[in-house]
Amino acid sequence: MELIHAVMWSLHVGFAVLWTGSVLFVTVAVLPPATRGEIGADALASLVGRLRWITRIAAVAFLVTGGHMAGTLYTVETLTGTGRGHLVLTMLALWFLATGLVEAAGGKLVSGLDAGKLREPARDAKPLFYGAAALSVGLIVTAGLLANPFGF
Ligand code: HEM
Repeated sequence: MELIHAVMWSLHVGFAVLWTGSVLFVTVAVLPPATRGEIGADALASLVGRLRWITRIAAVAFLVTGGHMAGTLYTVETLTGTGRGHLVLTMLALWFLATGLVEAAGGKLVSGLDAGKLREPARDAKPLFYGAAALSVGLIVTAGLLANPFGF
């Protein structure tokens, strides 16, 4: 059925944009003022809480929609034996690592905020957010290689 493929693809790409955009936005626009103590602890906790929820909902969405696309477009042979298959496996690995880093960064930040601190947990979480942001850029490149009309 055509419609199910269109729905799965749209959800996949929609969450790809929302999630990578959120990780990059928090890293470049929220974290620097947080390390300088320029954002209130409540506002920061709420922003990071939203990022963690987006990350978790997106994880379910990626597994369902990506699993559907991989199952309909690929076999084990084409996944492991073609350039496009390798890009899909790269996408899966980058997503897994970036999700782990966002979870670790968010957890570190929120437990520091719960303990009444602000700048120190923001500084501690910074390398983890930078790592997640770098992996997100890697995901965008991987998706661009798969999606660009000139092919791969
Ligand atoms: C569980 C993790 C994921 C799995 C299993 C997965 C799997 C897939 C598969 C099988 C495709 C179709 C490839 C093709 O057209 O040949 C695809 C496309 C795509 N994925 Fe993922 N993906 C995952 C996570 C992500 C993430 C985190 C992003 C964020 C950037 C992303 C962005 C995209 C985009 C933009 C496309 C469209 C490419 C196109 O139209 O050709 N995916 N993914």
